[in-house]
Amino acid sequence: MKLEEIERICVLGAGTMGAGIAQTCSQAGYQVTMRDLTEEFVESGFERIRVPLERRVRRGKMAQEDVDEIISHIRGTTSLEEAVRGADFVIEAVFEEMGVKKEVYQEIDQLCPPEVVFASNTSSLSVTEMASATSRPDRFLGMHFFNPAPVMKLIELIKGSETSDETMALARDLSFRLGKEPVVVKESAGFVVNRLLVPMMNEAFNLLMEGVATAEDIDKAMKLGTNMPMGPFELADFTGLDVGLAVMEVLYEETGDPRFRPSPLLRQYVRAKRLGRKVGRGVYDYRGD
Ligand code: CAA
Repeated sequence: MKLEEIERICVLGAGTMGAGIAQTCSQAGYQVTMRDLTEEFVESGFERIRVPLERRVRRGKMAQEDVDEIISHIRGTTSLEEAVRGADFVIEAVFEEMGVKKEVYQEIDQLCPPEVVFASNTSSLSVTEMASATSRPDRFLGMHFFNPAPVMKLIELIKGSETSDETMALARDLSFRLGKEPVVVKESAGFVVNRLLVPMMNEAFNLLMEGVATAEDIDKAMKLGTNMPMGPFELADFTGLDVGLAVMEVLYEETGDPRFRPSPLLRQYVRAKRLGRKVGRGVYDYRGD
């Protein structure tokens, strides 16, 4: 498969990342299918795309016709078969659990012609293990986008043990075509960004637990002291505390290194369902917003 041959991209998952990736692909001129398990999930994926774009329309940053155009090139579906039909490239952003992902891959491997490349947007799981559930481990890689996917420039390209050089080259070309900057990363827990970023957020929870400073002041310190656009807790609330905890657990399990031990406070918040903005409460409370 060559870049010029890609016309239709299938995105599996309509959550924050799936919807953002579908939007990114549509904006780059591709026909996109976006699949999730229920009509409700698919519809909320479209909402995730529509709301920030319509905010831009209100600010005079883009025309309503452009929003309609982006959305019109994305077809929502709950059927896996329909989602992959005619797709030249598949980007998977389903629930971050190995068992779930492998099941999806086993199914789509039967449905897609052999030349179709599968890319997982996993933020920390083994690409090699996911690829082993398919008959095409050479045409399988990790393409890790960042939230919000339409805005963040980076894509980490993760080479599994069997990923071919041709597949890496195609994913690199596609990343540029999507208006992104790729970096190539060897398979390792957390890749580059999450290995650095998530332990920093985890340590912020330890600081808070130890009473070193308030959440507001920890965020303020990192924003004003390092020019981060969001402090560690704002970012944790934005990406989801459950997502951060899952990354820490993978880092800890894969390396056994005590540096990566999940903060007990982070774990407690997740147990209390304080998962961040998506549920209205994380470190901060958004319920009045
Ligand atoms: N679609 C299109 N445009 C969007 C958008 C979306 N979904 N979301 C935001 N934008 C646009 C806005 O319209 C705005 O553009 P204009 O100025 O042209 O109107 C621009 O992005 C900036 O947005 P805002 O003005 O609303 O807000 P901001 O300046 O505070 O920026 C932010 C928001 C881009 C999210 C910024 O706060 C930021 O960069 N935060 C850090 C994000 C980050 O670190 N992400 C990585 C998380 S880690 C991860 O994702 C990996 C993982 O596996 C856990």
